Amino acid sequence: MTLRVTVVTIFPKLIEQYLNSSVLGRATQRALLDVTVLDLRSYTDDPRRSIDDSPYGGGPGMLMMPEPVFRALADPHVVRPTIGLSPIGATFRQSDAVALSQLDGFTLLCGRYEGFDARIEEACDRLISIGDFVLAGGELAALVVIEATARLLNGVLGNEESAREESFAMDRLLEHPQYTRPRVLGGHEVPEVLLSGDHEEVDRWRYAQRLLRTLERRPDLIEARGGISREEVELLHRYGYDEVLQTMNKERFER
Ligand code: ADE
Repeated sequence: MTLRVTVVTIFPKLIEQYLNSSVLGRATQRALLDVTVLDLRSYTDDPRRSIDDSPYGGGPGMLMMPEPVFRALADPHVVRPTIGLSPIGATFRQSDAVALSQLDGFTLLCGRYEGFDARIEEACDRLISIGDFVLAGGELAALVVIEATARLLNGVLGNEESAREESFAMDRLLEHPQYTRPRVLGGHEVPEVLLSGDHEEVDRWRYAQRLLRTLERRPDLIEARGGISREEVELLHRYGYDEVLQTMNKERFER
C-alpha cells in the first residue's frame, strides 16, 4: 500500500528536492510513498499572489492569510487528517510517526511568517510541533514528520532495521553503542563481549548498555516508562554498573 502525503507550502522546490534524495526518494521509487506538493501561492486570487497580511490588533510580522489556505485545503489532493506544523502543536513523538505510518495518508500545512491566522489553526484536524523551539517556517518540520513516518513503512528499510525500531518503540530505551572495524583504534578497543560469538551474552550486554545510556542521558525516559525493574537492576549490577544506580534515587527508579 502507498502512503499518500500532501504538503501545502510556499517553498515547493525545497520540499521536492529533499524528497527526491535519501531514504524518501527510495520509498517513492518503490511506490511506498507518494508525496504531492501544493504551492500555496497558486491558490491566491490577487495578482501579487500574496499569502500573508498584518495582524489585527497590531504586533510585529505577518500572518498567513486564511483564504489561500482554505482554497488549498479544498484541493482534491488533500487527504485528511490535515496537520498544521506549528510551535503551539503537540510535540511529535516516535509513537506519532508509528500512528501516521499506519494511515492511508495525511496532509501537512507549513506555516511561514509569524504564524497562522487562528481560523487556519481551527480548520486543521491537529497541530504538530517538532520541539520547543521556533523555526522560520513549517517546511523543515514537515520533512521531519515525513521522514520519521516513511522510514517505518514496510520495505523502506531492511528487515534488520525494522526489528530494531520495534524494540525502541516497545521499551523506550536508547540504542546501545555499536562498533565496526577496526577492532582497536587509538587505544580504544571494541568490547570483548561483541567478539565472543555468544549471541545471548551479546543481547544481555546490549540491553544493559541501553539501560545505562538511558539512565545517564535521558532519565526522563526512564521515568516515563515507570522506572526500572528489579531484574534490570540486577542486570546492571552483573556488569558492575552499580555507580549509576547509586547516583539515582532508587525509590524513584525501581518499579
Ligand atoms: N514552525 C515553526 N516552529 C515550529 C516547530 N517547532 N514545529 C513545527 N512547526 C514549526
